[in-house]
Amino acid sequence: MTAMIPEWHWPPDALTLSRQTVHVWYVALEQPAPLAHQLEQLLSSDERERAARFHFERDRRRFVVGRGALRTLLSRYLQVEPTQLKLCYGKYGKPYLAEESKGSALHFNLAHSHELAVYAFTQEGEVGIDIEYLHPLADLDQIADRFFSKSESTILLGLPEDQRLLAFFNCWTRKEAYIKALGEGLSHPLDQFQVSLIPGEPAQLLKVQGSPEEVSRWFMTAFVPAPGYVAALIAEGRDRSVEYWQYFPFSF
Ligand SMILES: CC(C)(COP(=O)(O)OP(=O)(O)OC[C@H]1O[C@@H](n2cnc3c(N)ncnc32)[C@H](O)[C@@H]1OP(=O)(O)O)[C@@H](O)C(=O)NCCC(=O)NCCS
Repeated sequence: MTAMIPEWHWPPDALTLSRQTVHVWYVALEQPAPLAHQLEQLLSSDERERAARFHFERDRRRFVVGRGALRTLLSRYLQVEPTQLKLCYGKYGKPYLAEESKGSALHFNLAHSHELAVYAFTQEGEVGIDIEYLHPLADLDQIADRFFSKSESTILLGLPEDQRLLAFFNCWTRKEAYIKALGEGLSHPLDQFQVSLIPGEPAQLLKVQGSPEEVSRWFMTAFVPAPGYVAALIAEGRDRSVEYWQYFPFSF
């Protein structure tokens, strides 16, 4: 089995998010300056302040496009103007819709790497998503030793050299997606749970130390959003289906 390469569909005018479904969106962050400027108008004052703190214009623009796209997508689900949406943040920085912006239950998470962002939306249960641009890592073994569980590191180091980089990022994105779904960021001990990582094998949360029931509480999948990237999605609940949509700024 090779990595799943989703077909990114153009969204229909009326977007329906059923209870069992998770919507995943893909956004190219490199947009021309005038488009980025228009998206910037959708941001809240704290988001604009955050944008202004980026040292490099390229990073500032990517953040603005990513946030503008998030607001546009949320507004589409909630039928509220993007500028009217209020976001709040959990203890470790996970963004949520503030109570007054909720309308209906809508959970989301997003991730960005290099030139792409991915977003996940669901009506039911928590959701976490991660994306990484595959780039060579000279200290891959040391990073794995530091962040992965013992069995993940052992599996990784036992793989042929040419599979290791992909296996590393498989592991990284799946672990990151899980801690993002929990909202705990790096406060969650990374060596206390195990995910699958061997290229070609299905993405799975395999074991959570001290909480055996966790494994059956989550649905996990992995996909290749674009050549050179790998991504993972995790959502609470068992039988979830995933629909993949592409967003182009101002396509709606
Ligand atoms: C906070 C954290 C989610 C940041 O991760 P990251 O890899 O830098 O960034 P990602 O692209 O995956 O995600 C960023 C988005 O996640 C969201 N986010 C921030 N804190 C979050 C949290 N605690 N939980 C879930 N989502 C969070 C935000 O929307 C953020 O987007 P923004 O920059 O537009 O605000 C956190 O897990 C972290 O610091 N990780 C560092 C990487 C690491 O060591 N991972 C080990 C994996 S084995």
